[in-house]
Amino acid sequence: ELPERVTIWEVGPRDGLQNEKTIVPVEVKLEFLDRLAGAGLTTLEATSFVHPKWVPQLADAEQLLAGLDRREGVRYPVLVPNEKGLNRALDAGVEHIAIFASATETFAQKNLNSSLDDQFAMFEPVVTRAREAGVDVRGYLSMCFGDPWEGAVPAKQVADAGRRLLEMGCSQLSLGDTIGVATAGQVEHLIGLFGDVGSLAVHFHDTYGQALANTLAALRCGVSTVDSSAGGLGGCPYAESATGNLATEDLVWMLDGLGVAHGADLDALVAASAWMAGQLGRPSPSRVVNALS
Ligand code: HMG
Ligand code: MG
Repeated sequence: ELPERVTIWEVGPRDGLQNEKTIVPVEVKLEFLDRLAGAGLTTLEATSFVHPKWVPQLADAEQLLAGLDRREGVRYPVLVPNEKGLNRALDAGVEHIAIFASATETFAQKNLNSSLDDQFAMFEPVVTRAREAGVDVRGYLSMCFGDPWEGAVPAKQVADAGRRLLEMGCSQLSLGDTIGVATAGQVEHLIGLFGDVGSLAVHFHDTYGQALANTLAALRCGVSTVDSSAGGLGGCPYAESATGNLATEDLVWMLDGLGVAHGADLDALVAASAWMAGQLGRPSPSRVVNALS
C-alpha cells in the first residue's frame, strides 16, 4: 500500500535559505544546488521571485538563475506570488513555478499582504499566463493544520482552499504544515478529504518532531511527492514558530528502510548538507546527517 517510488521535492535552496539572516553569496547557493543535483535529486526548488524587501535572502533570484548550470532531467521550480513575480520568472527562463496560498486569513495578511479571498484573485492571472507560456504551476497551501495566530485550522477550510488552487489549474497541491504542529491522524484525515491523491504533495516542517511520522501517514494514503530540505534547513520569516523542514536525509533513510525508490544518494546528500552547514556556521539539525558525518 506504500508507493513504489517517491519524488523528493527538495526545498532547501528556497525554504531552507529564505529564513537565514546573513546573506549567503550567490556562488554558495549555486554550489549547493549543484551538489544537490549531483546527489541525484531531480526537483530543486531554487529561489523565489517575491518582493526583495520581504525576503532579502532571495533578492538575488535573477543572478542565481543566470548562473545556474541546469542539468538534464532536473527541474528548478521557483516561488512566484503575483504577476510582477511571474514577469521576472519568465524573463529568467523558468519552466516551473509555484504559487503559495494560505489556508488562514491571518497568514494571508502576514505573508502576502492580502486577504484569504483576495489571494486567489492575485494568483489567477499568474496561473493562466504561466500555463499559456507552457510553464507548469504547483500550488502550495500553508497553515493546513495549525496557525500561530488562529490556532487549529478546520480541515474543511483547508480542503476548500486547496480545491480552489487545483481548479485554478495547479498541477499539484502541496499541503503545508508551516509550523510543524500536525500529527499523523490529522494528516490522514485531511488527505481523505481530497478525491485525487495523485495530485497531492506534503510539506512538513519538523518543529514538534512529527515530520517523518506525518510523511509515513501520507505515504500510506498514497501520496508520492514529499517536500524536504537538505540538512533540515528552513523556516518561514513570516511565521516565527516555523523551524526547519523535514530533512531530506531523514526522509531518504526512512524510504531506504521501507524499500521505496527515490533516486538519491544518501552519502552525497549528507556531504552536501555538511558542506552547507559549514558555510552557514552551524551544525545541521538533521539526525541522519549527524549520525553519518
Ligand atoms: P505588497 O507590498 O502588497 O506588493 O507585497 P504590491 O503589489 O502592493 O507592490 C508594492 C511594490 O512591490 C511595487 O513596487 C511592486 O512593483 C513591488 P513600487 O511600485 O512601489 O516600486 N513588487 C515586487 N517586486 C519584485 N517582485 C515581486 C513584486 N511584487 C510587488 N514579486 C507581495 C505583496 C506578495 C509581493 C509580498 O507580500 C511578498 O513578496 N510576499 C512573499 C513572502 C514570502 O516569500 N514568504 C515566504 C514564502 S511562503 C512559505 O515559506 C511557505 C511554504 O514553504 C509552505 C509552508 O511551509 O506552508 C511555501
Ligand atoms: Mg515551508
